[in-house]
Amino acid sequence: PDVEDVLNLDEMEEVASKKVSRKAWAYYFSASDDLASKTFNNTVYRQILLRPRVFVDCTRCNTATALLQGRHRVGVPFFVAPAAMARLAHPDGEAGIARACARFGAAQLISNNASQTPEQIVAGAVPGQVFGWQLYVQNDRRKSEAMLARVNALDAVKFVVLTLDAPVPGKREHDEREARKVGAKPPAPSSVQGGGSTSTTTPEPATAAAPSNPDADAQQGRAEPQGAAVGKTLFAGTAADLTWEPTLAWLAEHTSLPIVLKGVQTHEDAYLVACHAPQVAAVVLSNHGGRALDTAPPALHTLLEIRKFCPEVLERVEVWVDGGVRRGTDVVKALALGAKAVGLGRAPLWGLGAGGTKGVERLFEILKAETETCMRLLGVERVDQLGLKHINARAVERD
Ligand code: FNR
Repeated sequence: PDVEDVLNLDEMEEVASKKVSRKAWAYYFSASDDLASKTFNNTVYRQILLRPRVFVDCTRCNTATALLQGRHRVGVPFFVAPAAMARLAHPDGEAGIARACARFGAAQLISNNASQTPEQIVAGAVPGQVFGWQLYVQNDRRKSEAMLARVNALDAVKFVVLTLDAPVPGKREHDEREARKVGAKPPAPSSVQGGGSTSTTTPEPATAAAPSNPDADAQQGRAEPQGAAVGKTLFAGTAADLTWEPTLAWLAEHTSLPIVLKGVQTHEDAYLVACHAPQVAAVVLSNHGGRALDTAPPALHTLLEIRKFCPEVLERVEVWVDGGVRRGTDVVKALALGAKAVGLGRAPLWGLGAGGTKGVERLFEILKAETETCMRLLGVERVDQLGLKHINARAVERD
């Protein structure tokens, strides 16, 4: 089906699942253990009710907002969360996602393990387009330092996102299962950017050339890591020994960009993040799409915990959330709870897999229209008017 006929994000997932290779699908779909966190990320949004006000003029509606204490205007309150290896879905890759972002004024967080270089991804940026670059600190710190030097030099990159929730990969059995079917010997770590050893010198990682048709598995065998699950391969070389002070001090030496910490899942850690403002400008509450620790809480639970135990955190750092966002109503609920922006991990990969750059544009078009419809029916014109009075989260708070 044509992406123009796709009506919602679940349908986009369905279309993409039939177009991308089985190995790519296993990697994108997979989450840890029993997929409990992945599932809960999604269902938690259904437990929160909206409280529409009637007899309100809803002719006007504006989804625009600003990130990082008002510094960066964006056209929509959702952003592309960092996700590795977009070219497994479609040759347009992360640069294709960037073109779609340009059209909608969406911010894009570029993965440490992207299948194109940061330079390639931002090459077509329009004025004002906002990118962040996500870092997995490598055991060999010099590799991460070299990457930081490169992104520091790119005007379009406005902040660095340090991901904390996956010092080791979760046990992702779909990914493992698919790797066993392929059954060849594991790839050299240098064949992917995440292994780190070629990330500063090789413009196109060996894994990048993924065709987007379902019969392409054999052909892809040439281009993809074989015998090892994609996720595990990408984590080779990632540091597992990071702690607060030494890591943030090291980061301050190598970038003056604002820092966003991603993967916070408790109010205690959110409080520690706030203690590091303003070097840390924002925090992404996230359980990594359920791909790290299974049964870790959805971001909305963590946000409710923060509201209960240390609401002052929301004053000191900007809070973003991700995981399970599939509808405009989800976006609105997260904002009403106090998130400034909402990340999409898998969804842009579905758009890309379903129809390349056009598929991602269609995805954003759907989500933006749904967000507008929700705001209008709530009786809200601007996203900064959203607040607790627009939701009833009692069913979640009870847990
Ligand atoms: C991710 N995620 C991720 N996060 C990160 O910080 N660096 C990365 O390289 C990746 N890679 C990655 C690959 C794939 C295929 C997925 C699905 C996810 C996690 C991502 O940023 C985000 O936290 C979740 O995907 C959000 O959940 P949803 O939107 O996928 O439900």
